[in-house]
Amino acid sequence: MEKTSKNIILIGFMGSGKTSVGLKLSYKLRRPVEDTDKLIERREGCSVSEIFARRGEAYFREQETKLLEDLVRTGHECIYSVGGGTPVRPCNRPLLRQLGTVVYLRAQPETVYERLKGDTTRPLLQCEDPLGRIRELMESRREAYETCAHLTLEVDRMAPEAIAEAIETYLPGAHG
Ligand code: S3P
Repeated sequence: MEKTSKNIILIGFMGSGKTSVGLKLSYKLRRPVEDTDKLIERREGCSVSEIFARRGEAYFREQETKLLEDLVRTGHECIYSVGGGTPVRPCNRPLLRQLGTVVYLRAQPETVYERLKGDTTRPLLQCEDPLGRIRELMESRREAYETCAHLTLEVDRMAPEAIAEAIETYLPGAHG
């Protein structure tokens, strides 16, 4: 196993459970959890949807990279749940791995679709055929997620608690 630093980074497609797993893990390991989308929203003073609408996706992606650079400098013993598209920019991948142990929550497109149908907070899925879009995006991101991850978990049939347990098992010395 690679030597891991102290942060834990959860990556994966929208709806793969990063937020719920982050909360479970935070409770188990007694560490704070931060959601990078929320950190960006706080910096920008508006929601991710508003950032996409007003400034465009490219601007949002720049903010993701800036935030990662800042977290690498300042982040400490934390759990970070990061936006589904963050690993796509090649320069973000070494930053994520530098930040800590990267855990990829891999879900099937159908699982994501079932969880997110009706959701209006993900600008990339506001389209006529969200399942088709999920399949397409997931396929195009597969390599990005895989090259980033220290650990990959298939999460379709796992509850957040069980996923958090699996992560904890993988991380000797993660307590304290
Ligand atoms: C995105 C995922 C979202 C958010 C933005 C773009 C993506 O985060 O960053 O809507 O490109 O997959 P979640 O994965 O937390 O939904």
